[in-house]
Amino acid sequence: MPVRSDTFREGAVGVCHGPRCRDYGGSALAGLLQAQGFLCERIPCQSLCSYSPVARVNGIAVLRASMQKLAGTSV
Ligand code: FES
Repeated sequence: MPVRSDTFREGAVGVCHGPRCRDYGGSALAGLLQAQGFLCERIPCQSLCSYSPVARVNGIAVLRASMQKLAGTSV
C-alpha cells in the first residue's frame, strides 16, 4: 500500500541503526523514508531491540516500525 507523503508532518523521523534494528528492517525503512523526501536521522540503540525496527517520532518510540505505522503517527 503506498503511503502518501502528506500523512506525515514536518520533522525528522529517527530510525534506530543499532545492530538489531538495522538488520530487522531499520536500514530499509530509513531508505524508504529518505526516498519519499522525509528527513531521517540515524539514532543509536534505543534499548527496545525486541521490538525492532524502532523509530522515534517527536520523541515517541514507534515499535516494529513500518511506513504504514509511521503514516498513522504525528510525524
Ligand atoms: S538495536 Fe534498535 S533498539 Fe536496540
